[in-house]
Amino acid sequence: MCGIIGYTGPAPVLPILLEGLRTLEYRGYDSAGVALVGAGALSVVKRAGKLGRLLQALDGDTVEGTAGVGHTRWATHGEPNDRNAHPHVDPAGDVAVIHNGIIENFAELRAKLAADGAVFASDTDTEVVAHLVAQCRRDGATDLAEAVRAAVRRLDGAFAIAVVDRREPGTIVACRREAPLVLGRVSGGALLSSDVAGLIAHTRDIEALLDDQVAVLTRDGIAVTDLGGRPAQGHRFTVDWDIAAAEKQGYAHFMLKEIHEQPLAVRETLLGRVDAEGRVTLDELRADADDFRFVDKVYIVACGTSFHAGMVAKYAIEHWAGIGVEVEIASEFRYRDPILTPHTLVVAISQSGETADTLAAATHARAQGAKVVAISNVVGSSLARDADAVLYTRAGPEIGVAATKTFVTQIIALDVLALYLAQARRALFPDECRDHLARMEALPDLLAQVLDSEQEIAGLARRFCRAGYVMFIGRHVGLPIALEGALKLKEISYVHAEGFAAGEMKHGPIALITDGGPVVALATRGHVRGKILSNIQEVKARGAVVLAIATEGDTEIKEHADHVVYVPEVHELLYPVLTVVPLQLLGYHIAAELGRDVDMPRNLAKTVTVE
Ligand code: G6P
Repeated sequence: MCGIIGYTGPAPVLPILLEGLRTLEYRGYDSAGVALVGAGALSVVKRAGKLGRLLQALDGDTVEGTAGVGHTRWATHGEPNDRNAHPHVDPAGDVAVIHNGIIENFAELRAKLAADGAVFASDTDTEVVAHLVAQCRRDGATDLAEAVRAAVRRLDGAFAIAVVDRREPGTIVACRREAPLVLGRVSGGALLSSDVAGLIAHTRDIEALLDDQVAVLTRDGIAVTDLGGRPAQGHRFTVDWDIAAAEKQGYAHFMLKEIHEQPLAVRETLLGRVDAEGRVTLDELRADADDFRFVDKVYIVACGTSFHAGMVAKYAIEHWAGIGVEVEIASEFRYRDPILTPHTLVVAISQSGETADTLAAATHARAQGAKVVAISNVVGSSLARDADAVLYTRAGPEIGVAATKTFVTQIIALDVLALYLAQARRALFPDECRDHLARMEALPDLLAQVLDSEQEIAGLARRFCRAGYVMFIGRHVGLPIALEGALKLKEISYVHAEGFAAGEMKHGPIALITDGGPVVALATRGHVRGKILSNIQEVKARGAVVLAIATEGDTEIKEHADHVVYVPEVHELLYPVLTVVPLQLLGYHIAAELGRDVDMPRNLAKTVTVE
């Protein structure tokens, strides 16, 4: 949610900022802007719309400086226009601020500043920070860093900010509270970014700023302090993926590339999870089996696609480990009174590890004595750091806003966790655990087979892309996949799509069926297959055109469905890893057919750091 980038150093500043913004654009694309400082001057250029509009505005312009910051916005306060684009500047034109997050007390601060005569040029909460920093300098702060520390002490909310001042060219001051900000040292200078993807072209050695830490970036490097000015240090780590992993590599869109990376992503996520005796080992979990032996209740909290992965995991944990599971949307969980005890395990799933609602739910759970295990794709993310234990998916960077490879790897990580719990509680015999793991290890090759049906699915996409409404139905583990298939389609193609429990159709949704309306049915083998066949007949009888996702060798399904896409046979609980792929491809090809901006769908952002 909003991307921020900053650079100070000997290299030309503007190209580094623009390249960083290109990498970060998936975080928000309502507007983009840069501010550069050099030789006592501050230059700001910003435009509503995608980065391309800023590039046009900059065309032929020589904006130079020794340091600068850049921003790509996902609007929260104020409509996405030029005025509300970042950076925001104080009235004297000395200080420029970029910001990701929300300043919760901005209205109160704005009213106070206005009472002192301040005039505001935008509707944003961010502009208040520029005014405050300038005011703190006027009120005697010795330098920009001191002024930022004083200003931040007056802010409530979740934010990452970066500030430049024309009187201190070569310096960028940054601070974060509950929003991500990472730093990198480079030869003769330093960089900051909202995420690692913005830095890896320059360095793999990263320092993640922690809450209420302030970083001063100069040509001498980076100095971190707390809000009182005392020396501090962020969380340092090295990333093991390189820039090529964050490029499209010939695919039309990141989403398509990421769909095709799923066999590899699953293989990586499974690496090292089994020891020589065939037992599940989770070295990075920072907890031991004893911590899990007495777990008597599991809550899974997550948002969006991660929530659907949690729904899939419920079946595996209940079936294999014999523990009751509730899956809840993070933004709901934190505002009720769940019954949590030291024997409750809360599994918080977030590919980014920065989703504000999921972070808040995890904090809420820990405060009540529950143990929190994080499932995240981002090493060193806030969720991973704050949890009692962490299990990483190893999908590599996911840039497309619609989650794909992080979803299947979340299911894998959660299935491994389910087996780990089963092992700790002796709910499964060791050879049963081993067999399940062996079945999971076969999944990458099977996923590659499913990807081979892409052209067939692209053909179906051409047939379905003019439909006004697509329904997805499923039962058991097919239900979360129906929900995920509908989410994929609606978020990137803007075609109205909904997922339903197939058994619930007769209680209302079946009224929506019209002649020729497409229904996608998850109909793989398993103990509910007979039931789903009946549900297919019910919608067919009312004129629906049915696309069934079925198990290879199931010829009978052709008598019921108009179109069939087959996936290889697997254990019933593992089908979601395979069946979601045709639905991702269907969503992708419908969106591409309709000419949508697949990687950057309207109104959405990849990392949602506001509540
Ligand atoms: C946003 C993204 C979704 C994602 C959700 C949760 O809405 O567009 O793709 O599933 O956030 O993100 P998380 O990083 O917590 O998994």
